[in-house]
Amino acid sequence: MRGRVRRLVPGVAAGCAAAICLIAVLGLRGVSAAADPATPAFYTERVRPILIANCGKCHFSMNHKGGLAMDTRASMMKGGRDGRVIVPGDPGNSPLVKLMRHEGPAKDPKPMPPKSPRMKDADIAVVEQWIKAGAAMPENGR
Ligand code: HEC
Repeated sequence: MRGRVRRLVPGVAAGCAAAICLIAVLGLRGVSAAADPATPAFYTERVRPILIANCGKCHFSMNHKGGLAMDTRASMMKGGRDGRVIVPGDPGNSPLVKLMRHEGPAKDPKPMPPKSPRMKDADIAVVEQWIKAGAAMPENGR
């Protein structure tokens, strides 16, 4: 009897350790997809909701103010009437970020979003982080 218990215990312990390990790995994968700014998942889960909330009315779906449609990767990278709005790897030279930070011209184009308070710094930082890491996003923009 005692011998059996002794043989059983390490087996159970190993099984539990494996289960915990599996949960940890799956958990980390779930988090890291959106935590790594170089992945399209980061765009989908972190950046896109910020753009929809602050710019959606005028730059998504049917509305392409200033010629800028944020809907797909192609339209985002093409930019607006005045050309590129994102320079991958260089948020400081990306008009998209400059207008959000109110560091662009006073008009034409104006600070974005126009007529609204400046965006939260934390939200701007997420967009900057994403552009700095290469501005990866799914082709279909979702
Ligand atoms: C209320 C509507 C509105 C919202 C909301 C808005 N924009 Fe705009 N956006 C415009 C208009 C209108 C233009 C055209 C330029 C102008 O008249 O200043 C423009 C132009 C731009 C341009 C320049 C395009 C070009 O090539 O000239 C960028 C970049 C831009 N917007 C980014 C943003 C970002 C980023 C947000 C969200 C943080 C945003 N906009 C939110 C209306 C809006």
